[in-house]
Amino acid sequence: MAAILIKNIRLLVNTPAENMLLRGSQLATLPCIENAYLVLEDGLITGMGEMKELVNPEKQFGTVTDATGQFLLPCWCDSHTHLVFARSREEEFIDKIKGLSYAEIAAKGGGILNSALKLQEATPSQLFNSAWKRLEEISQTGTGAVEIKSGYGLTVEGELKMLRVIKKLKEKSPLIIRSTFLGAHTYPLAYKDNHQGYIDLIIREMLPVIAREKLADFIDVFCETGFFSAAETMEICKAGMALGLKPKIHANQLHLSGGTQAGVELGALSVDHLETMDDAAIRSLAGSSTIGTLLPTAAFFLRMPFQPARQLIEAGCAIAIASDYNPGSSPSGNMNLVAAMSCIQMKMQPEEVINAGTINGAFAMEAEKEAGSIMIGKKANLIFTKPVPSLAYLFYAFGNSHIDKVMINGEFI
Ligand code: NIG
Ligand code: FE
Repeated sequence: MAAILIKNIRLLVNTPAENMLLRGSQLATLPCIENAYLVLEDGLITGMGEMKELVNPEKQFGTVTDATGQFLLPCWCDSHTHLVFARSREEEFIDKIKGLSYAEIAAKGGGILNSALKLQEATPSQLFNSAWKRLEEISQTGTGAVEIKSGYGLTVEGELKMLRVIKKLKEKSPLIIRSTFLGAHTYPLAYKDNHQGYIDLIIREMLPVIAREKLADFIDVFCETGFFSAAETMEICKAGMALGLKPKIHANQLHLSGGTQAGVELGALSVDHLETMDDAAIRSLAGSSTIGTLLPTAAFFLRMPFQPARQLIEAGCAIAIASDYNPGSSPSGNMNLVAAMSCIQMKMQPEEVINAGTINGAFAMEAEKEAGSIMIGKKANLIFTKPVPSLAYLFYAFGNSHIDKVMINGEFI
């Protein structure tokens, strides 16, 4: 295939010299090239530089795209979603508006168990088709890489059904997809009074098949009061790690669950949520190689305090931002909204938000070799903005789409 030239780019955003995870104050540095060109071949980035360095452009290239006035960013890397689910749950949303608590909604048959019931009735092709639509939707809003969790199965068959759907999405979708086994999302009703029985089922019945069929890249546990304790989280993650699955843990969402410290002790790739943090949890994360993934749209939707991004950054943590796209606590996978909320509510600077949602997000799902920044050899997964006045405007004028077009593997979608 002939090379593609994109010329006259007003600002080529996130062009680091080194492919590295950013922590603390490093997040504020966003390398860019002004008035730039970019060369793509076979879906990959093969060249870049300033326009003035480009001689005789039209001669050497098959296709030339003019990006006058446009910013080009690497696509978002959304490292935490639950986007395979059978049905939305807006009736719970209405109950919440009326003032019902999470516990009252769960007592009415709502919550994760509600999604599990719906999932049981759905066929693999129904699950595949609805998830496919969500992938199309998020790619239009600039997501080029996405992690997807199981966790609405909660039986051997249900969890395997979800993971096989994710595997098929991986095979068919042009997006970069990573798969996470979240059998320990909650206790199914049948094991309400036999927690160890369910943990044994995860370890003895689910994990061996998942490893054999290579159905997951990572293992996750909802480490939370009333769900899985820190000790149970460690037990489940260690069993997964023995089979090659790195942990990515739901931690410190509703309570000081000990999830962050458990994740750090395990050497988890990431600990995610972090709405409820104290000094000990922040210190422990800062002194580790584990990434803290912040999910501001989940905090927003549940009317929780937002994650303490500034304290985490000041302590020197490596942080990522992600959507948590799921029917219960974040029914949106729009990373532009996640980014705007990170600026507005968590007081992150636009540069920090872009780094947290691109390169650090890529590291949080082990996609950093292919995605997360504009570097030679990485995939040409790019956001072309409309002619906005500045980078900050993308998040300041929240709720409007500033994306002109999105490119995945070198092709406009
Ligand atoms: O990440 N916290 C646990 N799991 C999801 C919510 C799942 C649901 O309510 O369906 C989350 O917020
Ligand atoms: Fe989640």
